[in-house]
Amino acid sequence: MATMEWTDDFSVGVDLLDADHKTLIDMINLVANSIEVGQSTETLGEVIQLLYEYAEFHFIREEVLMEACGYSDLDEHRKTHQSLKQKVSGILDQYAENPDSVDARELLEFMTAWLTDHIMNRDMAYAPAMAGRFVHKTKLES
Ligand SMILES: [Fe+2]
Repeated sequence: MATMEWTDDFSVGVDLLDADHKTLIDMINLVANSIEVGQSTETLGEVIQLLYEYAEFHFIREEVLMEACGYSDLDEHRKTHQSLKQKVSGILDQYAENPDSVDARELLEFMTAWLTDHIMNRDMAYAPAMAGRFVHKTKLES
C-alpha cells in the first residue's frame, strides 16, 4: 500500500504548519495501515474521521495565519479547504450509513494526491508572505 512520506520539499517555512502537515501525513499513513492490516470497518471509519478532524483543525490554524499576514489569496485558499471538507464529510456520512459502499483505498489515494498537490501548490504560494513571521521559540530553546 502506497504511503506518503514527508520531505523538506514540503516545508512552507513555518514550523507550526510544517508540524501540522507532518501529522496529516502520519494520519494518512495510519489509514493506509488500517486498510493493509484489515482492521474492522468501525476502526477504519474512526481513523478516517480523525484524519478529517485534524485537517479541519489545521485549516483553521492555517487560515488564521494567512489572515494575520494579510495574504491576498486567502479567500480562494479557504475555498479549497471548504471543498475538501465537504467532499470528505460526504464520504464519512456515506461510510457511517454503509461502509461497504465506500472504497477506502480510493479515498486514501484521493487524500494522498490532494494533500501533496495542496501543500506543493496552494500552501507553497503563501510561503513568501509568511517568511520570517510566526517564528517562535519554546521555553526550552530560549
Ligand atoms: Fe492549505
